[in-house]
Amino acid sequence: MRLAVILPKSKETRDHAVRDAVKAVQEREMSGQLGQYRLLGVIGRGSMATVYHAAHPSDERPLALKTIRHDLLDASDHERLRARLRLEAEAGARLAHEGIVGVYEYGEQGAYCYIAMELVEGSSLQQRCEQQERFQIGVALDTTTQLLDALQHAHDRGIWHRDIKPANVLMTASGRIKLTDFGIARTVSSALPNVPDIMGTPGYVAPETYVSDHFDSRADVFAVGVLLYQLLTGLKPFAGRPDEIMFQVCSTTPAPPSVAGHSAALRHFDSLVLKALARNPEDRFASAAQLRAALVQAQRTH
Ligand SMILES: Nc1ncnc2c1ncn2[C@@H]1O[C@H](COP(=O)(O)OP(=O)(O)O)[C@@H](O)[C@H]1O
Ligand SMILES: [Mg+2]
Repeated sequence: MRLAVILPKSKETRDHAVRDAVKAVQEREMSGQLGQYRLLGVIGRGSMATVYHAAHPSDERPLALKTIRHDLLDASDHERLRARLRLEAEAGARLAHEGIVGVYEYGEQGAYCYIAMELVEGSSLQQRCEQQERFQIGVALDTTTQLLDALQHAHDRGIWHRDIKPANVLMTASGRIKLTDFGIARTVSSALPNVPDIMGTPGYVAPETYVSDHFDSRADVFAVGVLLYQLLTGLKPFAGRPDEIMFQVCSTTPAPPSVAGHSAALRHFDSLVLKALARNPEDRFASAAQLRAALVQAQRTH
């Protein structure tokens, strides 16, 4: 079947229309099979990937299949994103934790490359944040504690995630979190190729990543601080255009959660959240485990 596209007048809208048309063609091409897996439908899209609900051929076991969004690609991007997907699969293969999405296999078929991984039935924290203004304090703390457990597991294996944000944290119906998207992860050892030219997401990126190449797992602690702030208050501590965000992150201290969220109940957690968001990594919690311990302690004395 041919796809009819009516091109609107403005260039920007026209680019979008072309992009949507390419996406539709790609998704139709791919409805069927990729590698040995049967594709059943799209479950999510990120900045680089489309994620499909898929089934294993032998036993129909459900899984998720992540592949590069071809609508975004020109040839030079393709190799870069392929490397990113491979990196994600390699990082995934080193990790085994109930709070991290399990990766089964990396594969290529013609122009397509993909990762087969554990299917998480639920939604991302991003989707949850869009549905509800803020989380109950207990739920926000429990979610963050689970995330920190998963992150410490990765850090213990020398892997820094570098793109912690609500869209990359999935949550099952029973409230279990599953961290995903290790596509720009860095490793301490050289066994995994580093991808120095890709930065995380503005608003979650720690100040030191803007100014130097010398950063470590404490950048992930900062991003968890941003996420916790958002869960508790329903607001992002740093917002605006990317250049405005960079300025705020590098030179301002956000309002304490109790002030931003107009909630006296949050006062108990203000200093902890602001310590996670400290501009100088030396003033931050030194590890995910330390932030976790402080959270548990604060929850106990609340
Ligand atoms: N294993 C999975 N199970 C269910 N949904 C997933 C899974 N992995 C990703 N998704 C969904 O797809 C979206 C994009 O996936 P992600 O890996 O973050 O792609 P990108 O690298 O492009 O950001 C996620 O925000 C989530 O909604
Ligand atoms: Mg993502």
